[in-house]
Amino acid sequence: MSQRTLVLLKPDAVRRGLIGEIVGRIERKAGWTISAMELRTLDRATLERHYAEHVGRPFYEPLLEFMASGPSVAMVVEGERVIEGVRALAGPTDPIAAAPGSIRGDFGTIVRENLVHASDSEESAERELKIFFPSHG
Ligand code: PPS
Repeated sequence: MSQRTLVLLKPDAVRRGLIGEIVGRIERKAGWTISAMELRTLDRATLERHYAEHVGRPFYEPLLEFMASGPSVAMVVEGERVIEGVRALAGPTDPIAAAPGSIRGDFGTIVRENLVHASDSEESAERELKIFFPSHG
């Protein structure tokens, strides 16, 4: 089942020079394709749309501040079961709970700076792709 997902390499990943490392892991998965990619500092309006479901959660403001703190890489990844697959590559939200071998397990220690975002369902993917890549087929 071919799918599309939104992946963000968060500002910590970019600052730490991990773009190539993370993109390489995605590229090496058989049949997956990066069909759009952009480096940009996300503005408040974009982040409010993206994280709308988390308004009012204790981590919301610190998360938005962190996400606006420097450039991120946004990309569209397409391929077989890519929604579940990128989340498996990333590992769980808390990097300390993430297994070695996953992106968060290998490179992260604190929850806010957990390196990557990946859409969690087909519905989220379509919603998020419209926010970040409105003109992408
Ligand atoms: S939930 O309850 O399952 O919806 O939450 P979860 O998917 O784990 O997290 C939603 C997003 O919030 C980020 N998050 C945090 N950021 C900063 N500090 C804390 N404590 C924290 N807890 C969760 C988490 O990384 C998710 O962001 P994305 O960009 O989707 O990874």
